Amino acid sequence: MRKPIIVGNWKMNKTIAEAVSFIKAVDPIVHDKADFGVATSFLALQDSVKAAKNLIIAAENCHFEDSGAFTGEVSVPMLEEINVKWCIIGHSERRQMFGDTDEAVNKKAKRLIAAHITPIICCGETLAQFEAGKTTQVVSSQIENCLAGLAGADVARLVIAYEPIWAIGTGRSATKEIAQNTCALIRSEVAKMFGKEVADKVRIQYGGSVKPENIVEYMAEPDIDGALIGGAALKVDSFTAIINAVK
Ligand code: PGA
Repeated sequence: MRKPIIVGNWKMNKTIAEAVSFIKAVDPIVHDKADFGVATSFLALQDSVKAAKNLIIAAENCHFEDSGAFTGEVSVPMLEEINVKWCIIGHSERRQMFGDTDEAVNKKAKRLIAAHITPIICCGETLAQFEAGKTTQVVSSQIENCLAGLAGADVARLVIAYEPIWAIGTGRSATKEIAQNTCALIRSEVAKMFGKEVADKVRIQYGGSVKPENIVEYMAEPDIDGALIGGAALKVDSFTAIINAVK
């Protein structure tokens, strides 16, 4: 019922030339069993959008204000101008290193939706929170705060990525049971806020050390609708293997 969505998050990797050459290599093998995409640096977005016929091209962040004294930031109208249709917000690296809060993520989501750009909203607990058994509490409150005040019809179309911070770039992936349980929890939070119909439609990704060897087992879980992938999305060979694995 829900079409899976698999997005590579390139983080601070790839020059414009490297991004375009990756996209040219991978775009032709994209198939329609899932939506596939990559999130690039702001600089590489414009050429990446032009190079991609099948791949989704996403920004990795945005600001919620349209313009002003925010040195180094990029606004939603700037993304609109170059035809960007997707944007990751609230990635744990943004939260941990650049001070992004649930409140800011909520404002960004609202601004993106107003511009018809689909947010990919990230959530997830730290290792300390996981070990203290606080995952449910932390993730529920992130979802509640990040989605506050949104319209159900808009929530149905967006993407949520559950990324336990202890599994990001560590090679220590969450078991499929842990990933499924938290994705199911997220779906039940969405149901509480917006009703079952919206919850049945919203796509929820798992992220954290996903690779060609384990993607299929995550996607077999009922509440996992795809993946947000860092390291394994950087090389043409391994992203190709991921695309082929979910055929
Ligand atoms: P990883 O990163 O696949 O390298 O763990 C995931 C992410 O940060 O989105």
